[in-house]
Amino acid sequence: PTPESWRRVDAYLTETLVGHDPDLETAVAEQHAAGMPAIEVAPVSGKLLQLLVRISGARRVLEIGTLGAYSTIWMARGLAPGGSVVTVEAEPENARIARANLDRAGVGDRVKIMVGRAADVLPTLEGSEPFDLVFIDADKESNTIYIDWAARLGRPGTVVVVDNIGRGGEVANPATMNPQVIGTQRGLELLARDPRFDATALQTLDRKGYDGIAIALVV
Ligand code: DHB
Ligand code: MG
Repeated sequence: PTPESWRRVDAYLTETLVGHDPDLETAVAEQHAAGMPAIEVAPVSGKLLQLLVRISGARRVLEIGTLGAYSTIWMARGLAPGGSVVTVEAEPENARIARANLDRAGVGDRVKIMVGRAADVLPTLEGSEPFDLVFIDADKESNTIYIDWAARLGRPGTVVVVDNIGRGGEVANPATMNPQVIGTQRGLELLARDPRFDATALQTLDRKGYDGIAIALVV
């Protein structure tokens, strides 16, 4: 497909199945106004995350990489009654914008933002009630660390979603020197060989371009 055709299809699917929400659109606008990159998930993927939360009946969701909380809002709105999201963000300024976006969207009471490097924050969650769904969308170099923590902080049946596994096709380049792509490859290899997971992945073509998501079950 040409960029024109896949963007037209993404726009059609978004209009047909996702629609518009002022709080989500304001969250993106505030994120951009604060100088954060436009790397939030596409609307069709936000809705997919929300549906995965609902399909799995998740009450405890862990997100690694908050940015402006666009995906956080999507997932928080899919929680079962009494549910909550813990989202980890390395940049305090991002967390400040995210907090305002979550409160405006009416889900602030269901979301805890933990500020710090996820590799430092995740060990502090050990011993808490297991998470039902984990969304990994942070620095790709650390994907193996985050995937390992997803299993440790989850339970059999936990759903793990990893964003950005296609990387414009670079993921299939064994000679890549790009540390983000190498981190993505190592993460997928871990999902494949580690007996704690059963996993697959889908390529995506949406308004953000050519990329993909991995979906795993903790077994
Ligand atoms: C990048 C990170 C993301 O999470 C994303 O969705 C797109 C791009 C990046 O670091 O380039
Ligand atoms: Mg991403």
